[in-house]
Amino acid sequence: MITLHEEITVQRSLKDCFRYVSDFRTVAEWDATALNAIKCTPGPVGLGSRFVVHCAVGPTKVRLEYEIIEYCPWASIVLLGKSRFFDVRDVISFTEIGSQTQISYEAEFQYHWGISALERQLESGMRAMGAESLRGLKDALDNITSLPEVSDCTARADRWVAPGVAMFSKWGYRRSVPHRQPNSKFLDGQHVVISGANSGLGLATSIALAEAGADLTLIIRNPANREGLLETLESVTGRSDIAIEIADLSLMADVRAVSDRLLAKERPIDVLINNAGALFNDYGLTSEGLEQSFALLLASPTLLTQKLLPLLQNRSAPGRVINVVSGGMYTEKLVCERLIMTPPKYNGAQAYARAKRALTVLSELWAEQWREDGIVVNAMHPGWADTPGVASALPTFRSITRRILRTSEEGADTIIWLAKAREAGSVTGKLFLDREPRTPYLLTKTKESADQRAKLEAFIDTQIDSVLEA
Ligand SMILES: NC(=O)c1ccc[n+]([C@@H]2O[C@H](COP(=O)([O-])OP(=O)(O)OC[C@H]3O[C@@H](n4cnc5c(N)ncnc54)[C@H](OP(=O)(O)O)[C@@H]3O)[C@@H](O)[C@H]2O)c1
Repeated sequence: MITLHEEITVQRSLKDCFRYVSDFRTVAEWDATALNAIKCTPGPVGLGSRFVVHCAVGPTKVRLEYEIIEYCPWASIVLLGKSRFFDVRDVISFTEIGSQTQISYEAEFQYHWGISALERQLESGMRAMGAESLRGLKDALDNITSLPEVSDCTARADRWVAPGVAMFSKWGYRRSVPHRQPNSKFLDGQHVVISGANSGLGLATSIALAEAGADLTLIIRNPANREGLLETLESVTGRSDIAIEIADLSLMADVRAVSDRLLAKERPIDVLINNAGALFNDYGLTSEGLEQSFALLLASPTLLTQKLLPLLQNRSAPGRVINVVSGGMYTEKLVCERLIMTPPKYNGAQAYARAKRALTVLSELWAEQWREDGIVVNAMHPGWADTPGVASALPTFRSITRRILRTSEEGADTIIWLAKAREAGSVTGKLFLDREPRTPYLLTKTKESADQRAKLEAFIDTQIDSVLEA
C-alpha cells in the first residue's frame, strides 16, 4: 500500500473549497493525471454520488469509478475509487484559517495483481504526481487564470477555413479541453437571466449555473413546459428557487412585457444570456407582422438587452451580456437591407445566418458603447451540437453529422464559461468558440462596410418601433 499525504492552504472560503472538491467532476481541472470526469448519479452531489474518471497513467488509460462514502459539509469527504489495477481511498479534510482554507488530502493506494510487488519503484513517481495534483488544486481554488488568447494552431486552422470549420464538431471541443484553465468560481447571489432555457444549450446552461449557485430567471415560451423544467432542475441540481418568466420572444410586445416585469422587480442582473433561437425553414410572419427569423434571432435580443440595460449597469462587478450566435454566420456579410428576407427568395438557413451575423456585429458595437458602463458583451457560437432545435430544423444535416456532433453540454460550455469565469469579466466585444476568441470572419468577402455597421442598430430599432407603435 502507498499512502500519499499533501496539504495546501488556499485563499478561498471553506464552503467554496468543499463544494468545488466534493463535485469530483472538477478533478479533470486540477489532477495531474485525470483526462475527464463525469457524474453518473442524478441529483446534487452528496453521500453516494458516483463519478467516472479517466486517467492517463504512463502509456495506459485507466478508468476509475469513485463513490463518495462519507460526506460531512464543510469539514470532510471520503471517496473510494476502484480500477482494474488499484483501489484508492481519498480522505479530504477542510479547515478554516482566517480568510483562508487548509486542505489536507490523503490517498491510500491498494494495488491488484502482481503490481504491489512494484510498489517501491512506483512510490517516488506517485509522490511527485500527488504533489503536482495538489499544486493544481491550489491554482484552481486560488483562481489564478489569465485572459485566453487565440492559439497559433487555431489561427492557422481559421486561415485555412476548412480546418477551422472542422472545429465546430466534437473534435474541436475535445481538442480544447487539455488547454483549459480551471473554472472554480461560484455565482452565489448573482442573478442570471437566460432565454430559451427549457431545451438544448439553454437547459444545459441553466443546470450548470444553478449548480454554481446563481439565482436564475429563465425565460421560456410555452407555459406548459414550466412545471417539467422546474422538476428537472430540482431533480438534477437540488434547486427549487428558480424563477420562470413566460414570453414568446418573437413578439416584441412580449419582449417588452417580460422586460418591464423584470425592471419592476428592480433586481440587478449580473449576466444576461440571449440564447433563444430557431431556424425557420419556411417563410412566415409573426402575429405582429415581422419576418420570424429576424424577429426572434435579432430584434428580440436587441430589444431585451436594450430594455434590461438599467439592471446591467452600475454594478460593482461588470454586468455580462452573452449573445449565442452560430458558425453559420461565417457565410454571410452584414447588409441591413438584406436582413429581412421575403419570398420567393426566402431561404431559412440564409435568414438565420444573416441574423446571427448581425447579432455578432451588434455585440461588438454594444461592447464599445457600454464599456464606460462596466458592461461586457461577448458573442459565442457553440459549434454543432445535437439539440432538439437541430433535430427538428436540420434533420438531414443531423443524420449526416450525427457521429461528430457535440452534446448540449459541450455546446453550452463556452456560454457557462463566459457567465462564470473571473477572466471572462474583463474581455468584451469578442466572439468565442471553445473558450477561445475567434475571428468573426473566415472569409474576407464577408466583412461588412463601415456604413452598414453604423446603421445596423438604427435599422433594427426602426423595425421594432414599427410593430410596437402599430
Ligand atoms: N445546436 C447547435 O448546433 C447550434 C449551433 C449554432 C447556434 N445555435 C444557437 O443556440 C441557441 C440554442 O439553440 P439549441 O440548439 O439549444 O436549440 P433548441 O433546443 O431548440 O433550444 C432553443 C430554445 O429557444 C426557445 N425558443 C424558440 N423560439 C422561441 C420563442 N419564440 N420565444 C421564446 N423562446 C423560444 C425554445 O423554446 P421552445 O422549446 O418552446 O421552442 C428553446 O428553449 C439558438 O440561438 C441557436 O440558434 C445552436
